[in-house]
Amino acid sequence: MPQQTRILDTPELVARQFAVDFANLVDQTVGDFHVALSGGSTPKLLFALWASSDCPRTEWSKVRFYWGDERCVPPDDPDSNFGVTRDLFFGPAGIPERNIHRVLGENDPQTEAARYGQLLENQLKSDSGKPVFDLVMLGMGSDGHTASIFPDQMSLMQDDRICALATHPDSGQQRVTITGPVIAAATRIAFLITGSSKTEKYRGIIGGTDDSKSWPATPFFLADNATIYMDQAVDA
Ligand code: 6PG
Repeated sequence: MPQQTRILDTPELVARQFAVDFANLVDQTVGDFHVALSGGSTPKLLFALWASSDCPRTEWSKVRFYWGDERCVPPDDPDSNFGVTRDLFFGPAGIPERNIHRVLGENDPQTEAARYGQLLENQLKSDSGKPVFDLVMLGMGSDGHTASIFPDQMSLMQDDRICALATHPDSGQQRVTITGPVIAAATRIAFLITGSSKTEKYRGIIGGTDDSKSWPATPFFLADNATIYMDQAVDA
């Protein structure tokens, strides 16, 4: 079972609860705090909160930002996870570039997957050969994917590389993703899931259905180092 599940009334309260817990984790950490952000739509509420005057006090100077996955597009492309975070949070909050380690989505995808993996190896402490994030933030797609590990690319769950190239099964969009062993090596994992589109997968994972065994999100969702932040709509 996940270490804990925090169920809030609304997506806004999910973002706030995560922001409060995140600020406390940073506060408790000696030295830099290395977090892998997730993309998609759910984190946008969090990024806007982080940039607002209403945000829980957070020692941003200690926080190093990375991505668990990034689309292979330039930073100004609306699909860019970095671009969304820059526009909603980094820019308005004045986060210095030295704290931000983006995937260069404009680069050749294979080359960038290798470069980013090397960067993570250089920047993060290591445990049994894997770079260790203090926190990996994850979402869950309606197909059960997480980061950019999709159900039709399950080999990435055990891939020996730190980062690998993934392909979105519907759009064909290429993405750089951290692999399963890197997610598993994290000190903490936080899932942020909101809305009824997550209900079927949430219930399957919690219920231990046979189908759920083929969803990339499942083992991380149930991991002892995972905290699930969800709103009521997920399990209404
Ligand atoms: C991405 C994400 C991806 C996302 C899920 C959920 O780059 O798209 O990292 O794994 O977390 O697709 O996305 P939503 O939060 O938009 O449902």
